[in-house]
Amino acid sequence: MSLFRKKSVEHMLATSAQNAGLKKALGALDLTFLGIGAIIGTGIFVLTGTGAVQAGPALMISFLIAAVACGFAALAYAEFASTIPVAGSIYTYSYATLGELAAWIIGWDLMLEYGLATSAVSVGWSGYLQSLLSGFCVSLPVALTAAPGALPGHETLFNLPAFLVMMAITALLSVGVRESARINNIMVAIKVTVVLLVIAVGVFHVTPANWHPFMPNGWNGVFGAAAVMFFAFIGFDSVSSAAEEVKNPKRDLPIGIIASLGVCAVLYVAVAAVVTGIVPSAQFANISHPVSYALQVAGQKWVAGFIDLGAVLGMLTVILVMAYGQTRVIFAMSRDGLLPARLSRVHPRFATPFFTTWLVGIFFGLIGALVPLNVLAELINIGTLAAFSMVSIAVLVLRRTHPELPRAFRCPGVPVVPVLAVASCLFLMVNLQAVTWAAFLVWLVVGMVIYFGYSRRRSKLAS
Ligand code: ALA
Repeated sequence: MSLFRKKSVEHMLATSAQNAGLKKALGALDLTFLGIGAIIGTGIFVLTGTGAVQAGPALMISFLIAAVACGFAALAYAEFASTIPVAGSIYTYSYATLGELAAWIIGWDLMLEYGLATSAVSVGWSGYLQSLLSGFCVSLPVALTAAPGALPGHETLFNLPAFLVMMAITALLSVGVRESARINNIMVAIKVTVVLLVIAVGVFHVTPANWHPFMPNGWNGVFGAAAVMFFAFIGFDSVSSAAEEVKNPKRDLPIGIIASLGVCAVLYVAVAAVVTGIVPSAQFANISHPVSYALQVAGQKWVAGFIDLGAVLGMLTVILVMAYGQTRVIFAMSRDGLLPARLSRVHPRFATPFFTTWLVGIFFGLIGALVPLNVLAELINIGTLAAFSMVSIAVLVLRRTHPELPRAFRCPGVPVVPVLAVASCLFLMVNLQAVTWAAFLVWLVVGMVIYFGYSRRRSKLAS
């Protein structure tokens, strides 16, 4: 039965109120920006090319399918986030509803999501930086431009820009939330401006004939692309990880999650329509900067250059928010005794989990420098989709076990909406490759070994 031991929701709320360790500095607009900062990144700037090849112009539909799946999960998220506003996002919520083992699995999944996402986006960032630098006739030694085996026909060893950007972001995060959030706000403004520029300029270069055939690979192509493009929406959930540092979580968290997801969905569909309208979709094969490429094809070289620059700046915020979410999940798991206590120590001056921030930054910085992007992206998606399915189940459980809790935001259409969330997440998972499933299962087995070998006995709840 100890596997199903649960934290008391009331106790959790009380300790969270007393917990003065972390600064409370964030408001609704900060959170929306934190969400957009996490969402728009490598997905739209880099993976759009792969998606267009797979789905054709119907990539617009793939984005919509992925957005709808995220939307269902976001509604569940928002209910939890507004009911139990404590650090650690769905890891914490599931601890109170599904019990310790499920919470551990979810926390372990989130590490896969946030950790590998920082690595993946740093790789995407490195690609756009190199494209930007090549505009100024600057190039790095080939060996330091990519992970081993990432560039067929070239001897590559280490993705140096990817590693360095992770170190810079880690330094920023380790000295405090407030400073990071302010920088995040500026970069989000730049990124959204760039995306709007793509749409506003690109729309005048669309040739409607390029939208035929609309679905060159049929529905299979559309669904496959949806499973990959799901990556482009990952990040809205990290808003909820910031719960303990929010001034008015009951009101601000649901606003932050839903607003950031909605804005990005609209922008993505518009970008997909524009780029597939400018360039025949098949031409995106092997293009690592598809969005600026489309504007180059349209003859807008200057705009393309600005897009390169905006992508480089904009992707920084994705790494920032993902790394932030990662450290806060580990913080929460450590505070519960499931991970060593050292990992939840708060820095006396900066009021941040300083040690954890650097540990995670260096580890995932090395992964980004040494593992190719395509290997990382699918793994991130499967881990995240699994976690989203579980949170949707958890919202149903909490309604039954704690109907009396005040909920600043209630998920509409319960039980239909959470059930649709589970179904759509599972549907996307089924559309990922078998090798991704295998790697995911290995990750889960490793997690089980650690849980039964260490965490189960050290759990604070056990004592
Ligand atoms: N959604 C984030 C991105 O596309 C992870 O980069």
